[in-house]
Amino acid sequence: MRMMLKKKVVVLTGAGISAESGLQTFRGLDGLWEGYKVEDVASPEGFRLDPQMVLEFYNQRRSACIAAKPNEAHLALVDLESKYEVNIITQNIDDLHERAGSKRILHLHGEIRKARSTLYPEDVYPIDGCVLNIGDRCPRGTQLRPHVVWFGEPVPNMNKAYVLTQDADILIVIGTSLQVYPAANLIHEIKSTCRTYVVDPSADSLRLKEDVLIMAEKATVALPKLVKDLMN
Ligand code: APR
Repeated sequence: MRMMLKKKVVVLTGAGISAESGLQTFRGLDGLWEGYKVEDVASPEGFRLDPQMVLEFYNQRRSACIAAKPNEAHLALVDLESKYEVNIITQNIDDLHERAGSKRILHLHGEIRKARSTLYPEDVYPIDGCVLNIGDRCPRGTQLRPHVVWFGEPVPNMNKAYVLTQDADILIVIGTSLQVYPAANLIHEIKSTCRTYVVDPSADSLRLKEDVLIMAEKATVALPKLVKDLMN
């Protein structure tokens, strides 16, 4: 008997894959960082200075996430699993890959629908509904904060992401400006035989290596086509 091993696909996603589900990206004219200062709402210092404002910022992100639905791009990635071993590494804090039905998802920057203790980072809890407030405490009595990685904080899942990427036969990068590290390092971790696709309407401005296959289109347009090709 001989077992055929599935080829390994790693998918690195960023805010662009959820843009067509109605969630704002971070950079660019309509980006979240045009309306907020990163250091105010996405840093430990910002939380120390004005915790209520930071919680409100993430409460808004959480309601938008709950109202959003997975789009054709999230759904197409699920179809790939019938032929490939697919691992999704996402910088997104939304749960649209989970709700689309993808099986293996690694969140690099945390998960908006979860909270964690401000004192014990390992203590993570699901949030019931949209709102996390000052005074919401973990069972050990500490204030809860959003379970997201802020600028200046370590990215605990990065080593797992490196290991997955180094083993990939195909890497698909979707909707990320590749401006935030260490996540942006992942595209340099692939083995020499790995084929890389980049799906992003602005891909031409990303300064990619020559052998990268670029699909400069919106994710919901490119992904169903790419998945169909990879299934044949
Ligand atoms: N389909 C595909 N890509 C799109 C679409 C779309 N419909 N719309 C926009 N994009 C692309 C943009 O061209 C851009 O290159 O998505 C990318 C979004 O880039 P950013 O806003 O920088 O988001 P991202 O790369 O995910 O940001 C990384 O920055 O602030 C932090 O923690 C936050 O995880 C986030 C990290």
